[in-house]
This record gives sequence, C-alpha cells and structure tokens, in this order.
Amino acid sequence: MTLADRVRQAVAGVTDPELRRPIGDLDMVRDVTVDGGRADVGIVLTIVGCPAAQRIESDVRAAAASVPGISEVAVDVGVMTPDERRALTEKLRAGRPARQMAFGPDSLTRVILVSSGKGGVGKSTVTANLAAALAAQGLAVGLVDADVHGFSIPGLLGIPSGTQPTRIDDLMLPPVAHGVKTISIGMFLREGESVVAWRGPMLHRTVSQFLTDVFFGDLDVLLIDMPPGTGDIAISIGQLLPHAEVLVVTTPQAAAADVAIRSGLVARQTGQRVIGVVENMTALQLPDGTVVDLFGSGGGAEVAEALSAPDAPVPLLASIPLSPLLRSGGDAGMPVVISDPGDAAAAAILELARSLSAQGRGLAGRPLPMSLR
Ligand SMILES: Nc1ncnc2c1ncn2[C@@H]1O[C@H](COP(=O)(O)OP(=O)(O)O)[C@@H](O)[C@H]1O
Ligand SMILES: [Mg+2]
Repeated sequence: MTLADRVRQAVAGVTDPELRRPIGDLDMVRDVTVDGGRADVGIVLTIVGCPAAQRIESDVRAAAASVPGISEVAVDVGVMTPDERRALTEKLRAGRPARQMAFGPDSLTRVILVSSGKGGVGKSTVTANLAAALAAQGLAVGLVDADVHGFSIPGLLGIPSGTQPTRIDDLMLPPVAHGVKTISIGMFLREGESVVAWRGPMLHRTVSQFLTDVFFGDLDVLLIDMPPGTGDIAISIGQLLPHAEVLVVTTPQAAAADVAIRSGLVARQTGQRVIGVVENMTALQLPDGTVVDLFGSGGGAEVAEALSAPDAPVPLLASIPLSPLLRSGGDAGMPVVISDPGDAAAAAILELARSLSAQGRGLAGRPLPMSLR
C-alpha cells in the first residue's frame, strides 16, 4: 500500500453523520494524492450547503492527519453531480423503489403508535423518553411526530426550532437527536403557516410522505406520536399501517380512562393490535413519605381490562409517577431517561423500553383486520 492508499483508506472510514455510513461506501471520496508529508484529499458532499459539511470536512482532515507520515492536509470539498446523487439515493434505498412505503407488512421494523384519548396525559413526553431509552439500549429508533395540532417532539428532544430534514433530491434525511431519527409535522410548515388550516387530504399526504420519502434506514422500531383521539390522521395511519402495534397512554383518572378506551377500540377496528397500556402521572411519593395523588388511581388497569379480550389480553405495561424531573427535562429538551436515569419516572420508562424490546415483533395473536364500518 502506498501512503496515498493509506490516507484514502483512513478517509473512507469517516462516517457521514446524517447518512450514518462511511463516506467511502457512499462514493464521496475523490482524488487522494500525497506529496512529501502533504496529503491532498478530495471529497464530494451530496448537496450545496449540506449541514454536516463542516463536521465531515474536519473528520476527513483528522483521519488523513492520523496516518503516520502525513504532516499537512488539504481538503477539497465539492458537490455531487445530479447523476452521482441519483446513484447515491438508489444505493441508500437498497433496491426499494422510490415512493414506496418502507414500513409495510413485510418490513422487519416494529411500528408502535402511541395514542391517547385526550391531550395532556403525557403521551409525547412518554414517547420522546421511550424513544431515547430504546436508542440508548442500542436499537435503531425512528420517531414520527404525527400530532398535527400539538407537535412537541422536536422540543422534547432538544431539536432547535426551524431545523428541517436535509433533502437529497426526493429523499429526506431526518434530524437525529439522542440517537433518535426524528421527523415532525412541524418541520413541514412554511413560515407563519398553521397546520390547523390543513384539510384531511393534505394531512394524509404529509403523513404518507413521512413514511415514504423520509430515509430512516433500517430501523428496529418506529414510534409514532399520534394526535389525541381518532381524527383524520388516525384514520390515515390506520390505512397506511394496518399492522402497527398500539400503546395507549392514560392518566389514573376515570374520565381520561373512558376516552382512552374508546381510542384503543377504534385502533383495533383498523386491524392494529393494542399491545399495552401505559398509565402516566400516577401518585408521587415525596422524600418525607407524603403521597401526592393528583389524578387518583386505577385508570390504567381499567383501560387495560376494558381493551382485553379473552384471547388477546392487554397488559398494563408501565405506571409512570408524576415527576418534576420528567417535566423539566422535557422543557429543556433533555430526556430524563438520559440525564437522570435514577428518577422514578425515568426508571419506569427505561423498564418499559426493556420489556418492549424483549417482546420482539410478535406476529402471533395479531387479529385479522376488521372493516371500519
Ligand atoms: N409523569 C409526569 N410528571 C410530571 N409532569 C408530566 C408527566 N408527564 C407529562 N408531564 C407534563 O405534562 C404536560 C403534558 O405532557 P405532554 O407529553 O405534552 O402530553 P400530551 O402529548 O399527551 O398532550 C407537559 O408539560 C409535561 O411536561
Ligand atoms: Mg403531545
């Protein structure tokens, strides 16, 4: 191997932070020459103004400089031609035609919808933390924020507002936060636009775009933060992902439990399987032993029982206590499962993540789709 070969090898191993593959595999390395101790390295990026450009350039520089015998590095950064980009997006799709849904019944990705009867029960907070917990366990995790009227996932994961997916032609790369590839309906709004004005067909198009044009790569789990209730989005997702699993989040309060039961039953009508109930905001025990029981108790168990059928029991999978740290972590964009795993709410969510990943994707017991009407 010549010195230039060694430099090329080192540079080829640099990972593209968005595509999460070595740039050598992505055909992004061009001419590499060495003259004395000086290496001249040419790379190409997918698009002009690629947000990862600086990071890639400095990683390439460091990789080249780490080769013994190299004392000086110059990096020339270019941009792929349209043909090169087309070849790259084809390679990334790995044979899957453009505009085809990656999460159909044959996919190995578990799709879990997190739904609730009403808003404010902590569905998004639980979903963001669950996603970060699963990613921290080493799973490849994607998260779709489909809550049109209250999209909050980017904030909960600390993704700065205004962050957009990077586009390579018709492929969109989701921003990654805490190891979670995240896409939100909020990232598709134009300046000053509000989703509230969107009608059913527009919502349907956007949701199906999430599932077809966003490049998640091979995921172990895709979580979807559903809007509360059973509106247009729930119907679209029911049609697009009839094999999805559903987690129902509720509070211990009886009134919340009633609507949660209804949303679980509707999900089941589209053929989706309710895999469990998560009770959030359960009693908080203070250091002096006082118990703060804001929302009463029993709602989770009640929902689980109501959604259970003799041949398909629905377990209460987790009870997550009220937690100031869970709330402040959400406000700060730092999931409590990462910052304070010892917090009681964090521990309950980490345990939920472990029990979900231990389950695997169970095809057994999945009911046959029933028609909606
Ligand atoms: N277990 C909990 N303890 C304390 N605050 C919580 C808990 N779960 C959620 N919250 C807070 O409740 C509010 C609503 O949560 P959110 O996740 O936005 O609900 P949803 O998505 O169901 O509308 C947020 O301010 C959140 O920080
Ligand atoms: Mg929400």
